[in-house]
Amino acid sequence: MSENWDDLVEAAMAALEHAYAPYSGFKVGAAVRTSDGRIVAGCNVENAAFPVAICAERVALAAAVSQGATGFRALAVVTEAREPSPPCGVCRQALVEFAPDLPVCSRTTSGIEARWSLRELLAQPFTSVSLLRK
Ligand code: THU
Repeated sequence: MSENWDDLVEAAMAALEHAYAPYSGFKVGAAVRTSDGRIVAGCNVENAAFPVAICAERVALAAAVSQGATGFRALAVVTEAREPSPPCGVCRQALVEFAPDLPVCSRTTSGIEARWSLRELLAQPFTSVSLLRK
């Protein structure tokens, strides 16, 4: 089934308003659609101890998993950047655990959009299979 991005992007955009990004000034909103159709959103949350910051995508993912979701249909990301931002490498790794072929749509608040699949963003992922010995 082809993805209806509008409601997911809208949820990501609403989450961006809650971004806590006083250090970078780079606000991010993200939203995942679970396999059973729920939308769960998140924003980036920074910290005075800079490495403690967590990305919007992982906040949304962790919130959804905390609500019992382990299957995902799509991810939307919204930023105020000039060009659509793909999820960072750490978020790609976090997402691949649950949805290796996840469709990703990133939109700027000015309306520029890009789409990728997680498979192309993280071509050779480290997964549970990578842990197998002999
Ligand atoms: N950030 C995200 O929320 N998602 C990404 O995929 C890349 C970066 C956040 C982390 C930090 O709060 C700010 O954007 C600047 O890197």
